[in-house]
Amino acid sequence: MGAPRPGRVLVAEGELTARVAELGRAIARDYARENPVLVGVLQGAVPFVADLMRALPIDLTVDFIRASSYGAGTSSSGTVRLVADLAVDIADRHVLIVDDIVDTGLTLGALKRMLEARRPRSVRTCVLLDKAGRRETDVTIDYLGFTIPNVFVVGYGLDYDGLYRNLPYVAALDAI
Ligand code: XMP
Repeated sequence: MGAPRPGRVLVAEGELTARVAELGRAIARDYARENPVLVGVLQGAVPFVADLMRALPIDLTVDFIRASSYGAGTSSSGTVRLVADLAVDIADRHVLIVDDIVDTGLTLGALKRMLEARRPRSVRTCVLLDKAGRRETDVTIDYLGFTIPNVFVVGYGLDYDGLYRNLPYVAALDAI
């Protein structure tokens, strides 16, 4: 019995590249003179942040935050804990949270509320993948990469038990 493996490719490398460029154009337009703080959510958003920031020819700051994750499991615990905080002060700044995937929305919703409590000028969200029909809480995705079906996915930052983050595409995890 082996670990589940990446299976069907849901978002190919070229599609990621093209969509990140489009998101970059939209975000650069909206934040042209705002010097925003991009807040990447560790660890899953690392490749997305790295690509997105290079698609943004504007002044910006990048920092990272880390919330508690699923661990080796594949379903939400519903509890969100901050395990690593930002280094920058976001008071009076325009904040753009950059996350890999939204499922129930509990994680992103909780992070957004935590950051809003620090009196930034604005908080918006940029999410690579949205699992259709899974939302349990109302959280707005201001910039979205792709809507995907309700399957567990890996690659481009997303992992199963620490594996497969390094894949340059997004794939469904094959059942064991
Ligand atoms: P919620 O339910 O709070 O979940 O919106 C968001 C977080 O859950 C993780 N997640 C996944 N991670 N493949 C993963 O590798 C998936 O298909 C998946 N679905 C949810 C992820 O950490 C995300 O930030």
